[in-house]
Amino acid sequence: MGRSSVALVAAGAGLVLALTACGANGTSGGGSGGAAAPSGGAASGGAKVGVILPETATSARYESFDKPLLDKALRAEGLDPDIQNAQGDVQKFSTLADGMINNGVKVLVIDAPNSEVGGAVAKKAQAAGIPTIDYDRLNLGGSSDYYVSFDNTRVGALQGQGLVQGVGAKPGANIIEIEGAPTDNNATLFYEGQQSVLKPKYASGDFKLVASQRIPDWNNQQGGATFEQFLTANGGKVDGVLAANDGMAGAVITVLKKTGLNGKVPVTGQDATPESLQAILLGDQYMTVFKPIAQEADAAAKLTAALAKGDKAAAAALATATSRDPKGNRAVKSLLLTPILITKDNVKAVTDQGSVKASELCVAATQAACDQLGIK
Ligand code: BGC
Repeated sequence: MGRSSVALVAAGAGLVLALTACGANGTSGGGSGGAAAPSGGAASGGAKVGVILPETATSARYESFDKPLLDKALRAEGLDPDIQNAQGDVQKFSTLADGMINNGVKVLVIDAPNSEVGGAVAKKAQAAGIPTIDYDRLNLGGSSDYYVSFDNTRVGALQGQGLVQGVGAKPGANIIEIEGAPTDNNATLFYEGQQSVLKPKYASGDFKLVASQRIPDWNNQQGGATFEQFLTANGGKVDGVLAANDGMAGAVITVLKKTGLNGKVPVTGQDATPESLQAILLGDQYMTVFKPIAQEADAAAKLTAALAKGDKAAAAALATATSRDPKGNRAVKSLLLTPILITKDNVKAVTDQGSVKASELCVAATQAACDQLGIK
């Protein structure tokens, strides 16, 4: 049953609002300077655009997927990208943004370590006439023109479903939740999605919530240490772990290995990193959520290209969804993509899409599973 419901939500089918892009920086976005002439053109000489990613340590996605895929997609749009990573340092994030603004980027794409710094950077860029796009994480109380991401509540719901499927019928199953950063709106949405599935299970007594903790900065080590404390305090008993991403899942599995519980306790994840897919093939991790970053990068690149040309109608036509910013009390024009639940049965869907190569997954310990699943 869970299986066929996996990828049904079509995020892009909404209607296009007739509102114009509005606002104080209405004349911004490449009307002047070097952007206007060449933007459909050759690889060199395209409009300069900036991208700032938040971290590397919290997830392998940023360096393995986002950076190369954004570079490729932005170049395919004839743009000249500068892609940097703030390494979780808010000061560095602002400094990188200042450099890009001074350097005359036509659009700034930001995936911020937290909403405060993301919002501040967007304000500064916009004051200089540069439109901004919130990439992956929405900056609450921010002012970016657009938001590109996945349906993050749906990501959480898939994690909840995966956990239910993995635990199976085990009345009173002990569940520990290791959640994402309290400062990341995505982590809030993941949690909401998870609870839409798990709350009724807790209420009925099917599942027993041992403990739940949001981990500052998505710090994987701290996630592992917190899990270990909860496990010890519960007398070493656990029947399922909601880990909010693959980094957390890896840290949890390391702890489970100490007492031989790995492979016996389903652990969730997110990001479909090569490490997590291997852990799934080995049976140590039950599921992950595959967010095809190629689609996210492509969507961001198309939107960036439209904004770099000052083509607000084209940009608005791409962003057919809206996201609610409860802090800023506004609806942000959005482009939201569809996540996919991955268990051992369909790991091949990830290699088929090309974001991870079979050669990265199929090593001595996993070769039998790869053969059985036709991953090659
Ligand atoms: C992203 C996840 C990632 C997490 C930690 C979230 O905002 O959506 O893909 O695992 O941050 O980096």
